[in-house]
Amino acid sequence: MAKRYKITIVGAGNVGATAAHWAASKELGDIVLVDILEGVPQGKALDLLEAGPIELFDSRVTGTNDYKDTAGSDVVVITAGLARKPGMSRDDLMKTNAGIVKSVTEQVAKHSPNAILVVVSNPLDVMSYVAWKVSGFPRNRVVGMAGILDTGRYRAFLAEAAGVSVRDIQALVLGGHGDSMVPLASCTTISGIPVTQFIPADKLAQIIQRTRDGGIEIVNLLKTGSAYYAPSAAAIQMVEAILKDEKRVLPCAAWLDGEYGISGVFLGVPVVLGAGGIERILEVPLTTEERIALQKSAGDVKANIDKLEL
Ligand code: APR
Repeated sequence: MAKRYKITIVGAGNVGATAAHWAASKELGDIVLVDILEGVPQGKALDLLEAGPIELFDSRVTGTNDYKDTAGSDVVVITAGLARKPGMSRDDLMKTNAGIVKSVTEQVAKHSPNAILVVVSNPLDVMSYVAWKVSGFPRNRVVGMAGILDTGRYRAFLAEAAGVSVRDIQALVLGGHGDSMVPLASCTTISGIPVTQFIPADKLAQIIQRTRDGGIEIVNLLKTGSAYYAPSAAAIQMVEAILKDEKRVLPCAAWLDGEYGISGVFLGVPVVLGAGGIERILEVPLTTEERIALQKSAGDVKANIDKLEL
C-alpha cells in the first residue's frame, strides 16, 4: 500500500493556508496546520477539508495549536512570522522572525526528528540558518524556498515580454532572495534558444530589476501584507519533489560548505531535490561578474547571520 505522507505547515496565515490549499489539491498527503492563534488553524483546516468533496481530494486536513499533533511529519513547511508591510525591508523583520522560527523549530524537531524542513519565513536565507542551527538536522534536511519564487517571477515577466508560454521558459537565479539574487544569463533560454534572441538587452535588464523588486511591488500594492500565491506554490513544488522523490533540479537555499568557493551561509543554488532533501548541490560555471555578485550576496547573508543571538 502506498504510504500516506504527513505534511505540517507552521503558520496558518496567507502563505501557510495557501500552501495547504495547493498541497491538498495535489493530494500530496495529510496536512496539519499549526499556528499560535487559537481557532485560526482549526477553522482554516476545517474549511479546506470541506472543499475536499467538491474538488475531490482525499487529504485529511487538521488545524492545531499543539505540536504533539504534528508528530512524525515527513515534511514541515515553516511560514510562521510577520509578513512585510510597506516601508519594511526583509531585514527589518529579521530579529522578530528569528525568535519565532527558533521556537517553532525547537518544537518541530522534537516531534518530527526525521522530517525535512522547508523554510519560507523571511529573511529567508537567515531563517533557514536559524532552522538548521536550532534543529541540529544534517544540512540536506533543511532547505529554503527563495529561488523558485524569484525564478517564477522572472519567468512570468520573460514569458509576457516574449509572448510565449511560461512552460517554455527556463531560467536560473542564484544568491540571496530578492534584492541580491543573481540571474544567470547563460541559463535563461526559451526552449533552449538564448533569451537574448527574443528580448533586447535593455528590456532584459528592466525585467531583472523588476524581478529583484518583485516582493516589494506586491507589498506596495497589497499594503497590508506580502505575496502569498507564488511563495506558497513554490514551497509546495519543493514538498512535492521531496515526497515523490522527483529529483527535480530547482534553485533552493542550501547550506554551503565550499560550493562556489563559499562556506558558512545559506544561499540560493541549484540543487537536486528528492526523498533525501537536498541530494546534491550543482555547481554551474559562472562569469566573473556573476561570481562577484554571488560573493557579495553571500557576504550580505553572512553579515546578518552574525547579528543573530540564538
Ligand atoms: N508559531 C506559530 N505561528 C506563528 C508564530 C509562532 N510562534 N508567530 C506567528 N505565527 C503565525 C501568525 O499567527 C500568522 O498566522 O504566522 C502567521 C503568518 O501569517 P501572515 O501574517 O499572513 O504572513 P504570511 O503572508 O503568511 O507570511 C509569512 O512568509 O513569505 C514569508 O515574509 C513572509 O515571513 C513571512 C512569512
